[in-house]
Formats: sequence, C-alpha cells, structure tokens
Amino acid sequence: MNQTSASQTQALVAATSSFAMLRTLSLVAGLSGLLVVLAYQITLPLIEENKRIAIERALFKVIPGAVSRRDFIVTAQGIVPADDSSGDGKLIYAGYDEQGRLSGVALEAAAQGYQDVIRLLYSFDPACQCIRGIQVLKMAETPGIGDKIAKDPQFQENFVELDARLNTDASGLANDILMVKHGTRSEPWQIDAISGATISSRAVARMLNDSAQQIVPKIMADLDRLQDAGRGAE
Ligand SMILES: Cc1cc2nc3c(=O)[nH]c(=O)nc-3n(C[C@H](O)[C@H](O)[C@H](O)COP(=O)(O)O)c2cc1C
Repeated sequence: MNQTSASQTQALVAATSSFAMLRTLSLVAGLSGLLVVLAYQITLPLIEENKRIAIERALFKVIPGAVSRRDFIVTAQGIVPADDSSGDGKLIYAGYDEQGRLSGVALEAAAQGYQDVIRLLYSFDPACQCIRGIQVLKMAETPGIGDKIAKDPQFQENFVELDARLNTDASGLANDILMVKHGTRSEPWQIDAISGATISSRAVARMLNDSAQQIVPKIMADLDRLQDAGRGAE
C-alpha cells in the first residue's frame, strides 16, 4: 500500500467512526427524550390525583362548618359550575353546611417563598368578607424556620378572621393584605410575621392579597349563584 492510499484509508476510517458515533449519540438522545416524555405521561395522572386528594383534604379544614362542596370556575363572564364549563378559568370550591348554606369559598394561591414556590388553599367567607383559614399544599421552606407557616399556632391566628372587605366600587379589596413585622399587627387586614421567617410570611401575605384582589369582587358579584347551588351540593 503506497502512502496516498494509506492516508485515504485512515480518513475513511475516521469519517466512518465519527458517523457511527453521531448515529449512536442521536439514538441515545432520541431514546432519552422518549423516556422523559413517557415518564411524564405515566406520572401526570398520578400527580393530578395526588393534587386532587390534597385539595379535598384541605378543603373541609379551611372552610369552617362545611360538610359538602360544589366546584365552580371563575370565567371572564362570571362564575359558572365547573361541570357546565369547558372554558378556562380559576377553579374555586364552594363549601356548604348541613342546611345547604354557603359556609365559604376555598381556592388556591401561590407565590415564591424562600426556597421555592409555596402553594396553599385558603377560604373566603362572604358573610364577614374575611379570610377564614389557610392550609399549605406544597412548600420547600426550611424546616424549623419558613415551614412554620403551616403549623405555627400564632401565625395561623392571622387567618381566623383576616379582613378582605371590598372597596366602595367593588373592584378590589378596601385594604391590601399586608405582612407586618412580628408583634406589630394593628389592623385586621395585616398578617403578623413569624419572627426569623419574614420571607416566607411575606410570601403568604403577597399570594393572599394578589388572589383576593382578583377573586373576591367576582365571588361577591355572583354570590347568589354560589348560595343557590348549596341545595344540590355533594
Ligand atoms: C439556612 C437558612 C435558611 C433560611 N430559611 C428561611 C425560610 O425558609 N424562610 C424565611 O422566611 N427565612 C429563612 N431564613 C432567614 C432569612 O434569610 C431572613 O433572615 C429572615 O426571613 C428574616 O426574618 P426577620 O426579619 O424576622 O429577621 C433562612 C436563613 C438561613 C441562613
């Protein structure tokens, strides 16, 4: 074999092995992508089901006195029963007492906390126009510091009757729900922070304010529809 044909053979071998490597890499990448999609498709219903169970459990804790519920969707046109709606909107859960009277409305709110997004369920009671309770659904706040938002009794007291009254033109809240430093709460719409966990406490105040500013006017505008539905609640 002369020198020219030897170098030609070497170039051919190099090209073939690069091609084989690329082919293998593409195959591995394709397979990995497929596996990720498959894993997502398989786990999605489980995740959704777990989420549903978590909400179901939290629901009757945040609405005092509720024994049954009906689900609604807040659409641009107003509040409609969830089973009648195919459109997009915010899901809310109306809770009713044994006589079928509306006890409160629960809904999800979320905001960035210290570590990650905090997700919770809270309830709004139209009778007092106040927030009656919160239940944390998901968080990754630091154990012993930020995670106190879920259990700390003093912090939970903020939500026994947190003011969320409508303003005079019914377009939002009369007062922003605001976090204040621990021990300085002076107004019923303020949230007394957990000492040493201001960031997590502020996240709770922010998500409640953002959510209530939008949803409370809609709940109050369609209150009759929510109340009437109590007769058929499960
Ligand atoms: C390791 C570590 C974890 C922390 N985790 C949280 C947390 O989960 N939530 C929180 O609000 N603050 C957390 N902090 C404290 C905040 O950095 C900040 O100091 C605190 O929120 C301020 O609260 P204060 O105004 O009452 O002092 C953590 C601090 C450290 C060093």
